[in-house]
Amino acid sequence: MKYWKKLSENGIRTRIARALDQNVDYRNKTILGVPASHLDEKVFYGNAAFLKDAPFLSTMIHNPNHIGCHTLGESESFFAGTQEIEKELISLIAEDILNGSADGQDGYVASGVTEANIQAIWIYRNLFIKEYGANHDEICIIGSEDCHYSIPKAANLLNIKLISSKVDHNTRSVNKESFSKSIEEANSSGAKYFIVIANMMTTMFGSVDDVSMMSDVLKSQQIRYKIHVDGAYGGFVYPFSCKDNKLDFSNPEVSSITLDAHKMVQAPFGTGIFLCRKGLIDYVFTDEAAYVQGLDATLIGSRSGANAIAVWMILMSYGPHGWYEKIHILQFRTDWLCSHLEQKSIPFFRQPFSNQVSIESNYVSQELAEKYGLVPDTHDGKPNWYKIVVMEHVTVDVMAPFVEELEDNKKKLKGES
Ligand SMILES: Cc1ncc(COP(=O)(O)O)c(C=O)c1O
Repeated sequence: MKYWKKLSENGIRTRIARALDQNVDYRNKTILGVPASHLDEKVFYGNAAFLKDAPFLSTMIHNPNHIGCHTLGESESFFAGTQEIEKELISLIAEDILNGSADGQDGYVASGVTEANIQAIWIYRNLFIKEYGANHDEICIIGSEDCHYSIPKAANLLNIKLISSKVDHNTRSVNKESFSKSIEEANSSGAKYFIVIANMMTTMFGSVDDVSMMSDVLKSQQIRYKIHVDGAYGGFVYPFSCKDNKLDFSNPEVSSITLDAHKMVQAPFGTGIFLCRKGLIDYVFTDEAAYVQGLDATLIGSRSGANAIAVWMILMSYGPHGWYEKIHILQFRTDWLCSHLEQKSIPFFRQPFSNQVSIESNYVSQELAEKYGLVPDTHDGKPNWYKIVVMEHVTVDVMAPFVEELEDNKKKLKGES
């Protein structure tokens, strides 16, 4: 591990205090041109004594703006201290977690993976237009029918086509026949350039796409493509639970990856991570952002530097071994749930390396689903599936009564009692 080392509370505090010292201090320096300041003192108590022991809150109060992408060279000098921590965070995730080459990736902390997925697709759309003279009708996004709704959102915003491939019933990942068929159909209706979405754990099932199959099919059809991995949900889980991960930067087929720290990492909302190989983000530079030092190659514009600090603090306080342990505890609890569902003959789907279990809705009454806060695959009519995500707060003690009630519920639904 080059960047990821467990730090003590004191080590974290000291590093962030140093970073804040390198940022502009609106109270002690004359700063006339920036349309921002520290947080409002009437509401946010900027001088409270406890702040010296609360690095995240202190950063919030200092209110650094991390506008732009800091892995590219020049950025706004006012916030250089905390930007440096964001840069380190991006390298840590890209290299230490996702096996990227040294300094081989760019990235930033986005508002969420909706934004980060749109950012990736925006880059590839522009690349196909700029490098091959493609027009919008010739560019097509392709992914499984279980892709997150941010993908159709991106297609709509960027004015390009979207094709959804059917998933295999048993694995819930896109299968070869339907993938090849979708490509042929798109091809015959004029699509020449493909933006491929490979899921590293889908929203509803935790399923993982077979990226090697996808790239083999595309190569065999001599098609131009770029592969983006949506690891919103799986990015901080799957690399730790599955030893044979083909969805990271060690696979030359993968061009970009997105992950959500506001899911499994329990960071504040506003912590989607966008990563791509060097040279790609350049396709979305907005040259008109001339007043921003270093220009802007992100979708979002202004964004809070405190978000990057929060993710960095969490990862550094666990360290790589602590994180591995955490994910394996969640795996253990998921195994426990699945073995009890099997004993009770309740059908469910679980991708073996995921901490998510989707139960067929015929075995769960709406009342039980509401009591235990299960999430349905649709709120429009009768759901097909209810999902359980085994998070930090979802312990075996919490799941045990649910499993008991599920058995009674099953009998009732079958009219046995
Ligand atoms: C697979 C997947 N992609 C993208 C997203 C969108 O993430 P966000 O809500 O952070 O925008 C989600 C959210 O659940 C997801 O599960």
